Amino acid sequence: MGEIAKLELNGKLYELPVIEGTENEKGIDISSLRAATGGYITLDPGFKNTGSTKSAITYLDGENGILRYRGYPIDQLADNASFLEVSFLIIYGNLPTKVELDQFKESITNHTLVHEDMKQFFEAYPAKAHPMGVLASMICSLSTFYPESLNEDRAPEAKDLTIHRLIAKLPTLAAWSYKNARRHPFMYPNNNFDYCENFLHMMFAMPTSNYEIDSVVVSALNKLLILHAEHEQNCSTSTVRIVGSSHANLYASVSAGISALWGPLHGGANQAVIEMLEKISNDGGNVDKWVAKAKDKNDSFRLMGFGHRVYKNFDPRATIIKKACDEVLVKLGVNDPLLEIAKKLEKVALEDEYFKARNLYPNVDFYSGIIYKAIGIPTEMFTVMFAIGRLPGWIAQWGEMIENKEPIGRPRQIYTGENHRDYVPVEKR
Ligand code: CMC
Repeated sequence: MGEIAKLELNGKLYELPVIEGTENEKGIDISSLRAATGGYITLDPGFKNTGSTKSAITYLDGENGILRYRGYPIDQLADNASFLEVSFLIIYGNLPTKVELDQFKESITNHTLVHEDMKQFFEAYPAKAHPMGVLASMICSLSTFYPESLNEDRAPEAKDLTIHRLIAKLPTLAAWSYKNARRHPFMYPNNNFDYCENFLHMMFAMPTSNYEIDSVVVSALNKLLILHAEHEQNCSTSTVRIVGSSHANLYASVSAGISALWGPLHGGANQAVIEMLEKISNDGGNVDKWVAKAKDKNDSFRLMGFGHRVYKNFDPRATIIKKACDEVLVKLGVNDPLLEIAKKLEKVALEDEYFKARNLYPNVDFYSGIIYKAIGIPTEMFTVMFAIGRLPGWIAQWGEMIENKEPIGRPRQIYTGENHRDYVPVEKR
């Protein structure tokens, strides 16, 4: 007999079953609450205590800094695997065999081109367009080129094709949104390169010159994509699931995820970190002054790249990426005053009582922004890099939700507006 939670309401006792996960994490199942109690709901703004689903993809223990994809610890994957191998693992549930991995890589490589007509869409965007806005639109537009994707939840082959197309085309569209912003010619994908190399090639090569691919940069990029690949029910993933729960197609669902990721409290934090460092630098580099601002309740300023909704001890991804960050900076011989400010900030905040008491540590985006800057990715492209990394997670979560036949997502609310009032014609108001 499993645990039971008891809720006493107006003298009546309700029994609610306790659900236990494979890592012994527990939840009270309230799915029958409203019907049983005649209308009571639970209220949990920001869903800080609410599980929206049961999922077999990622195990995350924020208190102990544990992150595993399909059971595999994040550090083992980041140190040994390729991003496509991890994508296969996350989406299909197991590490691929050699044959499966070769087939997967070949399929992804063969779908990297985007339809020539899509180039015209790029031309219509102003040069100043933020690449996340362009990317979200382009990904949604892919659905118009592949109408069979509109019902891929009912046809498994079409579903796989859509998944492969998305993984293959996202880097091409991302790199083209950057080229377009600079009004530079687009570089086509090159099938001789692997996934990360190809992206760097499309970003930095020109028809007039090749881009020298550095193995330290490729390895850091591969790690960054793996570290961002999946993070269970975060804001963008929950968005993908909720849009997909209406049976909107996968392109539309992922496009919504990209929009959710854009915000500075989520994926936009890596861009916000560099902008914050620039602001501190332009202000004379006085780190103490900005730490004091972050602590001041009357000041809306927050230290970007610090704190996390679920990691309240340390972010295991930050530990891995801090090491890669040091390697990249040494290898490329980067000497950037912003990095000095970043190091000072990290030290001051880690020793400060305010940050210690609230368990605010540098998160993965504090370091990812610094690496991206060092390898020449422009600041407004940082969140796009996050989107490329997070794609397999979005796909896997969407697939799981469809497979488990989950109902359409539809939260309730407690209404706090006006009571009934009658319409008054405008001339009498
Ligand atoms: N700087 C200063 N104070 C902070 C910060 C910060 N970065 N983050 C949280 N706090 C304070 C906050 O003011 C509050 O203080 P008090 O208890 O006195 O009112 C306390 O810490 C708890 O904050 P919260 O907003 O209730 O925490 P949350 O779990 O709702 O928010 C967060 C998490 C990530 C939105 C927040 O820490 C934040 O805004 N951080 C900066 C943005 C950032 O780096 N985001 C990237 C997250 S990692 C990428 C991803 O996975 O999306």
